[in-house]
Amino acid sequence: QRIVVLDSTVSTQQDAMRLAEEGAPEGTLVLAEEQTAGRGRLGRKWYSPRGKGIWMSIVLRPAQPLAFTPQLTLLTGVAVCRAIRRLTGVEAGIKWPNDLLIHGRKVSGILLESATEDQRVRYCIAGIGIDVNLNVEDYPEELSHVGTSLKIEAGLEVDRTALIAAVLEEMELLSKLYAEQGFQPIAMLWEALSVTMNRSVRAHTGQGIAVEGTAVGLDPSGALVIETNQGERIQVISGDIQL
Ligand code: BTN
Repeated sequence: QRIVVLDSTVSTQQDAMRLAEEGAPEGTLVLAEEQTAGRGRLGRKWYSPRGKGIWMSIVLRPAQPLAFTPQLTLLTGVAVCRAIRRLTGVEAGIKWPNDLLIHGRKVSGILLESATEDQRVRYCIAGIGIDVNLNVEDYPEELSHVGTSLKIEAGLEVDRTALIAAVLEEMELLSKLYAEQGFQPIAMLWEALSVTMNRSVRAHTGQGIAVEGTAVGLDPSGALVIETNQGERIQVISGDIQL
């Protein structure tokens, strides 16, 4: 497995994408101590201070067609959530699609980007950001009420190398399960770790449409199914939700 460790970079997503374009194999990993312009979902920024977190991107080369990338997003969220729980004992939960929350605050985010050609996925880059050892005072004002770190929640420094290894182990285990048994077992694990299930939610789709109702589960494609108060079932494929 190829592992590229950088001191400072703009975004490990960009670096991994360049390597993938050059033919880097599945599992190629790019890590950075610091990102100067870390990217989040929906065009947001990802605060990536030096030495305090895990900022990494993994090259994935799935054989499935385009429609199945939401499944990989959820699989990655399950992997990170299991790794955090296993290593720190802190009960992180998943907010759809794959924000990891502890006590209602975000500790990790995942950005899955894919390069496609003729409706087929050429490769995906799974970007994982985990706030590992940030202290309360490390958070800028705008994040101080929404973000948290494993150190703050667990009350002690967490070994980043051990956590990276645990995430990779979980990714490998779940990818194998996915290849052998499809999405169903992944969906079950996701639903069990999710804080979104059976909760009343308001979803905003990429098109700016708002849907309100109860999150009832994932459909076979990986979309979140919301049942409105009128009993109508709506699938949400992208966007954000409010709990
Ligand atoms: C989100 O919650 O919006 C997703 C955040 C993803 C952040 C990670 S950090 C490593 C990788 N490089 C980036 O620029 N973003 C992802």
